[in-house]
Amino acid sequence: MVRERPVPVPLGERSYAVEIGVGVRRRLRARLAGASRAILVADSNTAPWRDALAEAGDVRVDLEEGEAHKDVAAVARIWDAALDASVDRRACVVAVGGGVVGDLAGFAAASLLRGVAFGQVPTSLLAMVDSSVGGKTGFNRAQGKNLVGAFHQPRFVLCDVETLSTLPAEERVAGLAEVLKAAWLDGEAAVAALERDAEALRAGDEAATIGAIRRSVALKARVVEADEREAGQRMVLNLGHTVGHGLEAAAGYGALRHGEAVGLGLVAAARVGVALGDLDAEQAGRLERLVGALGLPVDLDRRLDEAVWGFVGADKKRAGAQIRFVVPGPPGTTRIAPLSVEAIRAAVAV
Ligand SMILES: NC(=O)c1ccc[n+]([C@@H]2O[C@H](COP(=O)([O-])OP(=O)(O)OC[C@H]3O[C@@H](n4cnc5c(N)ncnc54)[C@H](O)[C@@H]3O)[C@@H](O)[C@H]2O)c1
Ligand SMILES: [Zn+2]
Repeated sequence: MVRERPVPVPLGERSYAVEIGVGVRRRLRARLAGASRAILVADSNTAPWRDALAEAGDVRVDLEEGEAHKDVAAVARIWDAALDASVDRRACVVAVGGGVVGDLAGFAAASLLRGVAFGQVPTSLLAMVDSSVGGKTGFNRAQGKNLVGAFHQPRFVLCDVETLSTLPAEERVAGLAEVLKAAWLDGEAAVAALERDAEALRAGDEAATIGAIRRSVALKARVVEADEREAGQRMVLNLGHTVGHGLEAAAGYGALRHGEAVGLGLVAAARVGVALGDLDAEQAGRLERLVGALGLPVDLDRRLDEAVWGFVGADKKRAGAQIRFVVPGPPGTTRIAPLSVEAIRAAVAV
């Protein structure tokens, strides 16, 4: 087991540490000390990892795989399994899976008996670098993604890169989009490290992957520490997500992976940065080249149609007349600019 310093997420009494390395999933029992019962949630692809960690007395909950099943029925399945087992308020819900399992299990934990402890054993790269940290939980409704949820911070996060051995390569690559987003928010050193490691990361190199997870989690921890409930600054984590969400929704959830959509959304955001004068063409080219170098799709123009802009505009309803767009400048700099869909569209269209 590699001994590395955990990455702290300092949030007062809700503080926790993100443990990253080879074999760290085996620390689960130690992290569950004090819990009356463990409720271990997995989907059909991650159940083997969960079952290898399970002990007699644990409640196991099996969810169906995929974004299409990120719904209230899945949450109810967790509630009912826990209630059928008569758990008390000292129980701990643990997600062993990707971001879908994590968001569902986290919301179930936030609401079960008005709130029980929650732990994360993320098994997708996206969940390790992004969704397992920061406490956002929830599920989808017909009206849109993640529209019902709660903030509920985990007590522990165990990012074990060994679990990535069964993750399909395309899923791993999709997770690299959030790594790139975090690197661009972080600054020049992180972007340069990513340029250096792109090939290794694309191939799944363990040391490079651990380094990328550490840097991404540290960046997210800093942002979340400054603005836990997204009053303002946390919004920068939406870099690449405005057009990304539009592409994802227009393709039909599941047709384009979230990370793939975010990669394309970063390309779109770079164009907006250039149009507004925040980013020069050279830096925009650098961002776009990195998307490709990490193995993500870059064929943005082919995918932009009326439906995409319709979904980009739909977000506006909740945000007011204008979209609060995260405009990238050179690495380490962003600005939130209120923009109309038309302005974004004009900047992105070539
Ligand atoms: N809470 C947050 O802050 C936050 C941030 C970003 C994304 N998210 C959410 O995360 C979700 C996307 O996460 P994701 O990409 O992990 O999706 P996911 O959970 O659907 O996982 C992707 C696929 O990989 C499979 N899988 C996961 N780990 C595996 C493993 N080790 N071996 C084999 N298969 C494995 C899953 O079963 C699924 O088929 C979205 O619902 C998104 O809204 C949440
Ligand atoms: Zn994302």
